[in-house]
Amino acid sequence: MLGNPDRPIIIYLKLTPMLEREYIKAVRWILEHDDREAIGDYLEFGVFYGSSLTCMYRVIESFGLDNVRFFGFDSFEGLPKTTIYDDQRSWRPEQFKSNFRYAQKNLNEQGINWNRVFLVKGCFSDTLNDDHNDSWRHSYRSR
Ligand SMILES: C[S@@+](CC[C@H](N)C(=O)[O-])C[C@H]1O[C@@H](n2cnc3c(N)ncnc32)[C@H](O)[C@@H]1O
Repeated sequence: MLGNPDRPIIIYLKLTPMLEREYIKAVRWILEHDDREAIGDYLEFGVFYGSSLTCMYRVIESFGLDNVRFFGFDSFEGLPKTTIYDDQRSWRPEQFKSNFRYAQKNLNEQGINWNRVFLVKGCFSDTLNDDHNDSWRHSYRSR
């Protein structure tokens, strides 16, 4: 039951070790192929309750990449209506519906620094377009 607000912590605990290994590998690979200073921001499309965002935050922190910011995009309304046309109906509209406030609370409890983490609430088609790109980059705040 991924959509149950009472369970995100349990999901976090189960997924984290596996995710963490993959994220560490990915960050190591980037650092082997590029300068530390060249590393940009982390953008996540689909925050849900913030498990993977927190995991990547911790990994980036452990590498001392203090300039990386984290932008988490999500409607917090679950999968959109158009989902019924995808992947032979494997998914359903509103699946993975979460709650913005609860996600914030979760991230808070995980001790993330809101000066470098920004949640951008809304449907991707609304928040990821030319009109919006500049505004979220400069002005979105999660608190
Ligand atoms: C499987 S969950 C993401 C899991 C998350 N990364 C985690 O750590 O638990 C998918 C998320 O994508 C969001 N989402 C899916 N389609 C979207 C869209 N078109 N616009 C905004 N959010 C969307 C849903 O609201 C949901 O929170």
